Amino acid sequence: MKALILAGGAGTRLRPITHTRAKQLVPVANVPILFYSIQSMVAAGITEIGVIVGDTRDEVMAALGDGSAFGAAITYIPQDEPLGLAHCVLIAREFLGDDDFVMYLGDNLLEQDLASFTAAFAAARASVSPPDAQILLKQVPDPHRFGIAVLDDAGDVVHLVEKPADPPSDLALVGVYLFTATIHEAVAAIEPSPRGELEITDAIQWLVDQGRRVRCELLTGWWIDTGKLTPLLEANRLLLERIETRIDGDVDDTSVIDGRVHVAAGARIVNSTIRGPVSIGADAVIEDSFIGPFSAVGARCRVSHSEIEHSVLMEDAAVIDIPRLEDSLIGSHAEVTRTRRKPRSLRLMIGDHCQVDVE
Ligand code: G1P
Repeated sequence: MKALILAGGAGTRLRPITHTRAKQLVPVANVPILFYSIQSMVAAGITEIGVIVGDTRDEVMAALGDGSAFGAAITYIPQDEPLGLAHCVLIAREFLGDDDFVMYLGDNLLEQDLASFTAAFAAARASVSPPDAQILLKQVPDPHRFGIAVLDDAGDVVHLVEKPADPPSDLALVGVYLFTATIHEAVAAIEPSPRGELEITDAIQWLVDQGRRVRCELLTGWWIDTGKLTPLLEANRLLLERIETRIDGDVDDTSVIDGRVHVAAGARIVNSTIRGPVSIGADAVIEDSFIGPFSAVGARCRVSHSEIEHSVLMEDAAVIDIPRLEDSLIGSHAEVTRTRRKPRSLRLMIGDHCQVDVE
């Protein structure tokens, strides 16, 4: 089995951060989102990985390299225009050959292991009525934002629709799909949707219309489509829940570490309290500050005389003299400082290299 990861999207809903970086490379719990999907593929034994790249291709290629750091072999497939998820399958035809493959949207994060999903597909493929595709569904409160599936009484997929104004069910398509080579016929047969894209949802509907079997699984664990600030902070929180205490950096005698905290090598904690779960990146400096639960402070950040909680600071950011910063995403090399001493709490989404001085 091969894998196709889609990492070409523009990430307009995470601007300004995505003006300067690929949305799939925004870090959660100090690890770029995209790394989690590659790691889960390798853990499932899938090492031949095609990555669809768009405008941010240089950055994605620099971050993933040839894949050997992950134990994988990566082939990059450029998509010149964002023409839809099914278009990605179309342009990956040569890489995919006639193999079964998993298609994974690079901004999706799942709690459940991919291996359980691929094993279920393999078992179903060996049965008397083998499916041509397998989708993963999750009940959501806002179905109009997703591809939606309708099942019959036997639990088989009978109808799929992309972002319906009037959703026929609340079962959303999670961004992880398993396909056999029949999907290539489907993506060649469909027409662009009203938003001008070749929708994978329509390609799967085409399979159903041709009498092909589309198997579905209901996802039990959490699933986050990280394209916006609130889900991104939620993903950061859920992944920090998993971290274990590990102190590789320096913590001075006047500092307190409380709960599960990871302090990477070269980081220095001076006269500060860190209350986990928290991850502090390599060579970061925290002085005279409080870092509260569910914060990820990137490599080489500087936090001084400040309180931070439930926030992501990307690498090389600085937060100086801020009484309280919460629910915030601070871009790389950004600086948040304050000249007047009026106490206030801040909620910010700050792009890379910005400078904010709170008066
Ligand atoms: C895409 C798919 C949609 C799916 C969603 C999952 O939407 O078109 O069917 O439910 O991913 O993340 P998009 O992220 O392009 O809005």
